Amino acid sequence: MPEPQVLPFAARAAGCPFTPAPELYAMQKEDELSRVDVPSPVLDTFEAVAITRYEDARALLSDERLRMGFVFDPDAPRSMLNQPGNLLNYNGAGHTRLRRMLTGGFTVKRIRALQPVIEQIVAGRLDALEAAGPGADLISTFCTPIPTLVICELLGVPYADRADFQRRAQVGLDVNATREEHITNLVEMDAYMGELVAAHRRSPGDNLLGAIVRDHGDQLTEDELIGIGNMLLVAGHETTASMLACSSTLLLQHPDQLAVVRDEPGALDGAVEELLRHCSPAITMPREAAQDIELRGRRIRRGERVVFSVLVANRDRALSDTDLDTLDVRRAPRPHITFGYGAHQCLGQQLARAELRTALPALFNRFPTLRLAVEPDAIDYRTTALVFSVNTLPVTW
Ligand code: HEM
Repeated sequence: MPEPQVLPFAARAAGCPFTPAPELYAMQKEDELSRVDVPSPVLDTFEAVAITRYEDARALLSDERLRMGFVFDPDAPRSMLNQPGNLLNYNGAGHTRLRRMLTGGFTVKRIRALQPVIEQIVAGRLDALEAAGPGADLISTFCTPIPTLVICELLGVPYADRADFQRRAQVGLDVNATREEHITNLVEMDAYMGELVAAHRRSPGDNLLGAIVRDHGDQLTEDELIGIGNMLLVAGHETTASMLACSSTLLLQHPDQLAVVRDEPGALDGAVEELLRHCSPAITMPREAAQDIELRGRRIRRGERVVFSVLVANRDRALSDTDLDTLDVRRAPRPHITFGYGAHQCLGQQLARAELRTALPALFNRFPTLRLAVEPDAIDYRTTALVFSVNTLPVTW
């Protein structure tokens, strides 16, 4: 069996899963731009400039000369990197056209209206956790079901289908799955979403997929609708599940910080931002330079690929003279790019925040004696996927 691959720009220190690998800090200090070899299940390994400084990342992610490296091409074979409807496969006007059709579903007002549903879902999972224990796996009883239920409710996807679509989402995000596995997976995802889209075409439901079909159905092809559905379903649950998992794992090891999340509603927004900054679970997609770009007197050549280390950029020493490696939920908010930056900045970030703000204090209030049921060094982290997470988290109370 070949060694499982880890993306070099998202590598974490051995034994310290929330700390960037030392080589990333070394790159951040270098004045020269670093280049790394990026393994890819879809392409052959490719070389890319690795951006590790926060200011560089913001400058480049908002620079129109740097574009998505994998753009939808109807004549090329379908792959995870070549899907119609997936916003991360589009640039410029093509991207704006699709994104405009979706923003209405994610406004602050829409997310506020969803708050009672989120609360109800969280309460249901707390009951399920209580019924399962004392002693349960927090990931499968709490962290994964919450965002899955929320996205199902928002989109209009049956929760009963979760085992299949969660499995497919994980294959899709697995850097170590083979090319063939990715293709088969994509065919299955398209077939599943195709049926849902057809059902919404016949009778648009009172949810986001229904609204997209009703409001924009005549401007979108069938394949685009399917791609939009797949993108929202995967993006909507995997990343937020990971943030709930990482936050719980960290807070259970830092009781003083857990107490702030549990007892101080006024400090909650800041605490969630700090957890987002500290965990940095997701990556951004590789970009490509459409022309030569000068950065701090260094050159990114036209055609070169660029990857971003969200993890280490969020801890850039230039951002603060205080220690950014420590989790400190009371610190004055530090900027971060956990949701990306620029035109492709996360569409679902307000939804993710609402879920984190609701679920975390509710968990620690309902189970004040909640604690890890394994030694911290026995926690099973998921390090070889595009979204970093925790596979299982045995807890008791
Ligand atoms: C804590 C949870 C989340 C994290 C850390 C996260 C992270 C990210 C990041 C880093 C990007 C930018 C990718 C890039 O520039 O290459 C992104 C884009 C995106 N996210 Fe999220 N996300 C989260 C939750 C969600 C949720 C709940 C949804 C809702 C369904 C969502 C939908 C999207 C979409 C549609 C895009 C593509 C936007 C575009 O290309 O214009 N995300 N996310």
